[in-house]
Amino acid sequence: LNYAKTHFVTSAPDISHLPSDTGVEVAFAGRSNAGKSSALNALTQQKSLARTSKTPGRTQLINLFEVEENCRLVDLPGYGYAEVPEAVKRKWQKSLGEYLQKRESLKGLIVLMDIRHPLKDLDQQMIDWAVAVGLPILLLLTKSDKLASGAQKQQLNMVKEAILPFQGDITVANFSSLKKQGLEQLKQKLNEWFSQ
Ligand code: GTP
Ligand code: MG
Repeated sequence: LNYAKTHFVTSAPDISHLPSDTGVEVAFAGRSNAGKSSALNALTQQKSLARTSKTPGRTQLINLFEVEENCRLVDLPGYGYAEVPEAVKRKWQKSLGEYLQKRESLKGLIVLMDIRHPLKDLDQQMIDWAVAVGLPILLLLTKSDKLASGAQKQQLNMVKEAILPFQGDITVANFSSLKKQGLEQLKQKLNEWFSQ
């Protein structure tokens, strides 16, 4: 698959407005500001395919992109953003759970976590839901460029140990959109999921 050919398809205000549930979909999930949109841009070698921002909570719509026919990438709004009212947060958490549990075309989940603050409660909730429905997960420890290489390895090993109890199909990798680290591992997983 040529990820550089990825193009924007549509935005949906919530999961009930997603286009038809056919083909294969892979979603990018994570806390606000984790680097989801930046990862999509690095993957597709496009500077502003997905909107990025210093302000957390920038992605409020579900943005759908197509690599080619029947192969979609989904940029999900970030969770855990402090400034969002509690009721809105809860509603979005519920929607995310439903999306993971009901979306037939969803064949893989990328959970992005800042390498300096991995596995927060809501990240674990996402992993729980995905494992429960047998959805494979790629955990990307983002902004790895913020740590020295020794500390990067330490975090990677810590997360690998910490996810053992989840007993799902979970792969962990360090990732930096800035330094283009982990891109090959990301592409390899996507190719695997899209070829099913
Ligand atoms: P929401 O849409 O708000 O949920 O955020 P997001 O997860 O899409 O994060 P986004 O890609 O917008 O990045 C958030 C901030 O982190 C921006 O200021 C990015 O420039 C920065 N950032 C993203 N990836 C990296 C990275 O690999 N290294 C560094 N140093 N900064 C990064
Ligand atoms: Mg975003």
